[in-house]
Amino acid sequence: MATVVRDVTEMQATAERLRRDGKRIAVVPTMGYLHEGHLSLIRRARVEADVVITTLFVNPAQFGPNEDFSRYPRNFERDFSLAEQAGTDFVFAPEVSFMYPPAYSTFVSVEQITDVLEGKSRPGHFRGVATIVAKLFNITKPHIAVFGQKDAQQIAVIRQMIGDLNFDIRLIVAPIVREPDGLAMSSRNTYLTPQQRKEAVVLSRSLRMADERVNDGESDVRRLIEEMRFVIRSNSSGVIDYISFADNQTLLECEQIEEGKEILVSLAVRFDSTRLIDNTIIRR
Ligand code: PAJ
Repeated sequence: MATVVRDVTEMQATAERLRRDGKRIAVVPTMGYLHEGHLSLIRRARVEADVVITTLFVNPAQFGPNEDFSRYPRNFERDFSLAEQAGTDFVFAPEVSFMYPPAYSTFVSVEQITDVLEGKSRPGHFRGVATIVAKLFNITKPHIAVFGQKDAQQIAVIRQMIGDLNFDIRLIVAPIVREPDGLAMSSRNTYLTPQQRKEAVVLSRSLRMADERVNDGESDVRRLIEEMRFVIRSNSSGVIDYISFADNQTLLECEQIEEGKEILVSLAVRFDSTRLIDNTIIRR
């Protein structure tokens, strides 16, 4: 049986007690509306630690003023039961007013790597993410934190923050879980119309095509991006926000695929107001 904790102090006291008993704690931060992608992280945490804490919190600080905070899908009962089946011991699900009381005024801002990609399209987003993740680390006191490769830049930001702020936490990155047709699972997929849902396969398809083209020897990034644009434009109504080939460590754009380097190929595509992201790592 999993236990729900709503209160910050109670979660901290529980984590403290577990640590004193010698338990290794893993945290899986989520915004809920759980799908197989989230559940894969919980299962991974289950294997890596003695105690798993899944956090469910739709974090207002990481949504822009015109983004989907109020309509973000929520279903606590379903999330609780899925998280429990996947092996979580605790579900930490605080109220917004517990996390951000009226006088709240401290934020964590990771610089440079947040200026590009998602950070550029969504100003303030990673400030909200880094802030809530730092708070969740302080509340759940984990030895291990499990995040998904689905949000590649988020991984880079959390890794930077863990290093810079000396959090004594091991970061585990779990692979992207996809629907049978290749679409990366996302709580936001529920916004898509049936037609958009069909078309949304162009994200993963264009990534796979780029991967194959690089394997066949193509190294010119401008050409690869053009080809990805073509796949997306000719097979969907999606509006491309960005397509990027960047060094996976620094997130700096590259012009050529160089031997031995890890390249993060990432993209964001909008279907009306629904913005989808996906990525793959290319090595040659
Ligand atoms: P959320 O979008 O709910 O995602 C929670 C975690 O699940 C993240 O680590 C994300 O990368 C992972 N995830 C989402 N879809 C996935 C998929 N298809 N395959 C594998 N992993 C997947 O990311 C956030 O919430 C928030 O920014 C959060 C870190 C909780 C801070 O509020």
